[in-house]
Formats: sequence, structure tokens, C-alpha cells
Amino acid sequence: MGFVDTMDIVTDVAEMQRRCLAAREKGQRIAFVPTMGFLHEGHLSLLRAGRGAGDILVLSIFVNPTQFGAGEDFDRYPRNLERDAELARSAGVDWVFAPRASDMYPAGYATCVEVEGLTQNLCGKSRPGHFRGVTTVVAKLFAIVQPRVALFGRKDFQQLAVIRRMSVDLNVPVEVRGLPIVREADGLAMSSRNVNLSPEQRRQALSLSQGIGLAVDQVREGRRDCGRVIDAVRKRIEQEPETRIDYIQICHAETLQDMDVIDKNAVLLLAVKVGDTRLIDNHHLGEEIESP
Ligand code: PAJ
Repeated sequence: MGFVDTMDIVTDVAEMQRRCLAAREKGQRIAFVPTMGFLHEGHLSLLRAGRGAGDILVLSIFVNPTQFGAGEDFDRYPRNLERDAELARSAGVDWVFAPRASDMYPAGYATCVEVEGLTQNLCGKSRPGHFRGVTTVVAKLFAIVQPRVALFGRKDFQQLAVIRRMSVDLNVPVEVRGLPIVREADGLAMSSRNVNLSPEQRRQALSLSQGIGLAVDQVREGRRDCGRVIDAVRKRIEQEPETRIDYIQICHAETLQDMDVIDKNAVLLLAVKVGDTRLIDNHHLGEEIESP
């Protein structure tokens, strides 16, 4: 396994599950990276970690319709399976799972998984039903692939927290690992959606990571008032003509509840539309506080 020329692309759900069951019965550890494809360095960092975490590395590529709301960018979401397959091959993926929506949600499909609490704030507020779509598809993918380890990015901080909660609550025998945000050289968090930005919007999108940078400076200088730090970030982002702020919040890393005063647990999270493209970013501000 892991040889560059032995990667398989599996589209059939039952076939994928049979393979994974057989691998498990042989005692092989499956490491799993779920994605919506159009792979970039962020995804590849998960694959590299996954390559070292199991005997068989499975990558799923599925633009999951149920996590997109009406009027969101499901149709505009970038797709390129051929390019993804090439990148997956060089990252040492053994099996790519690329199911069809009609096979994941056949006629008569009627079940969903919903995590309460953690999904109320942040993206849960502005994208109703989004996390229900995410947890439902991830629960299904876990049941099909039966991984021992699953790797997710901290770029989607709330998603990671929600998936951890779901896995614990449903006793899924999987270890969920969260990996650092991978950024472009100039600071923009990598995202499949970045290709939808015009060059001018791409420049304006830097205000997210630069806003985070201002917040980091303030925390290092001793500021602990969440409202004032958020104001500074907002000012930076509002300087750009095509940005529309969805939220800028400072929340507790575990509960995702808003905080008033920054401490070790504080995470700054933002969602901003640049033109028609919705971008998210975050930073664990609490890590900037020196231990006494
Ligand atoms: P997608 O946006 O393709 O992301 C797949 C995984 O890559 C997620 O765990 C995400 O956090 C991680 N990722 C994306 N950009 C990253 C970056 N710049 N640095 C590090 N990790 C990054 O998230 C989804 O797909 C879907 O919601 C999914 C979980 C697959 C369910 O449909």
C-alpha cells in the first residue's frame, strides 16, 4: 500500500464499504481524510499526516449537497476529479472514494445526525442546516470507511468541534485529529473557494489574516477586552470595498460560547464575504498569552 501506482478510485458505496470491512478484518488501520475535493496544500497536509497514521489511506471527495443552503455556492463549488486524483496519487492515497449523490442519498433516504449546542453559534447562525448536513455526511462516511483515525483541519474550527462531539456522543470508534491551518505565503488561509476570487478580491481577502494579525499584536501587548480586539479586526476588514462581514467573534475553544475577556481558551473566528465568496478563518488567540 502507498505505492504511487496502486491508487484506486471507488465510486460505489457498497464496494467501498466491502473493501474497508475486509481491510479491518485483516487488522489493517484505515486513516481517513474526508474532503469536497479541489485539493490544495491544506488537504495535502491532512493526507501527509494520514499517510503516517494508518496502513491504508482513504480520501473521500464528495461535494455534499445537504450542507449547502438555498442560494449558497453548491453549483459554483470548484470540481476537478482528474487533477485531484493526480495529487492524491502523489500524496500516497490508496483509495479515493468519490460517490455519487444519488448513491449517498437514494430515494427514500430519511435520516440525519444533528449535534445540538455547538452548532447554534457562528456559522450555525448564518448557515441554518449546514452542520446537520456536515454531521450527517461525516457519520455516513465513517460508517462506510470505518476509519481508526480521521483527519480534519482547524481551518474549519467549529466543524472540527462538532465532529468531535458527534463521534464521542455516538461512540464512533474513531480518533479525530485536528491539524493546523495551512496558509498561502501572504497569509490567506487556503480554501478551494479561493479560485472564485478575482485578483482584486484576492487582494482584499488578505484583510482577514491581516485582521487576525492585528488581534495577535493587541493580545501580545496585553489587551484582553474582546470587544476592542474585535473592533480592530472589523476596522481592518471594512477598509476593503468588497468585503461584507458575516461575523467576527471571540469564543471559548471548547464551548464556542462568546467571551468578554480573552484568556487561554480564546479563539478569534471570522466569516467574511468577499464579493460572492464566503471565506472563514480563525486563530487561537489564547496561545499568544505567555504563561506566568
Ligand atoms: P473541505 O472544505 O474540502 O475540507 C476538507 C478538510 O480539509 C477539512 O477538514 C478542512 O478543515 C480541511 N482544510 C481545508 N482548508 C484547510 C487549510 N487551509 N488548512 C488546513 N486544513 C484545511 O470540510 C469539508 O470539506 C466538508 O465539510 C466535509 C468535512 C468533507 C464534509 O462534507
